Amino acid sequence: MKLIEVKDYHEMSQVAADYLLSNIKKSDKLTLGLATGGTPQGLYEALIQDHKENNTSYQHVSSFNLDEYIGLSGDQPNSYCHYMKENLFNHINIRSENTHIPSGKAVDLVGECKAYDHMIESCGGIDLQVLGIGSNGHIGFNEPGTSFDSETHIVELAQSTREANARYFDSTDEVPTHAITMGIATILKSKEILLLISGQAKQEALKKLMEGEVSEDFPASILNRHPNVTVIADEEALTLVEDLKQLNK
Ligand code: PGA
Repeated sequence: MKLIEVKDYHEMSQVAADYLLSNIKKSDKLTLGLATGGTPQGLYEALIQDHKENNTSYQHVSSFNLDEYIGLSGDQPNSYCHYMKENLFNHINIRSENTHIPSGKAVDLVGECKAYDHMIESCGGIDLQVLGIGSNGHIGFNEPGTSFDSETHIVELAQSTREANARYFDSTDEVPTHAITMGIATILKSKEILLLISGQAKQEALKKLMEGEVSEDFPASILNRHPNVTVIADEEALTLVEDLKQLNK
């Protein structure tokens, strides 16, 4: 796992955008795995800014999002489908038919999960997956205890996840209880992974990740076994990692 240390959220977003842009520019076909939440918002802003200034094209880019709430339709403001359109897709020239997000309103949700994995495979797999991390170590919505062998599946959200995401809703009660998420095995099939970590709330999670013990109780720990992971972390998130380094000196 390669670690890039940056000063703050702004620098993390800019470095991540440069990383994606160099991949977008050098390939004639690229499949991105995309994340939602607070962490990648600055990255998407930087991509939009670049698109305005440099007209970088996304015509050859496909995308698969990590997850979606069950029960929300794509046009509801808190759905991840809506988030992606507002925060990225509507502002760049990616073809809408090349963007994929699981449907949280599918009648056959299990079928939807299977079809999603199948679509990723038919597209040739994910070249570069962008990830955030939950303070409990979740990746996508794979909560602690999820099997490392899981493919795209339905999950019940941890209470801590619903509380963390309540800031986007009127109350915690309104946060959906279930979601569809790419599984851990699905995520690990990505050729390359870019994990973004910023802020005090992620200090413990980053420390646990860097300690290197791999356990299903801490889903992100499996990233230690992937051959091509880059972590971009800011100073605030790195505080406990730095303390650990001092202790080990
Ligand atoms: P956040 O969420 O970016 O909103 O902190 C990350 C995650 O839960 O994976």
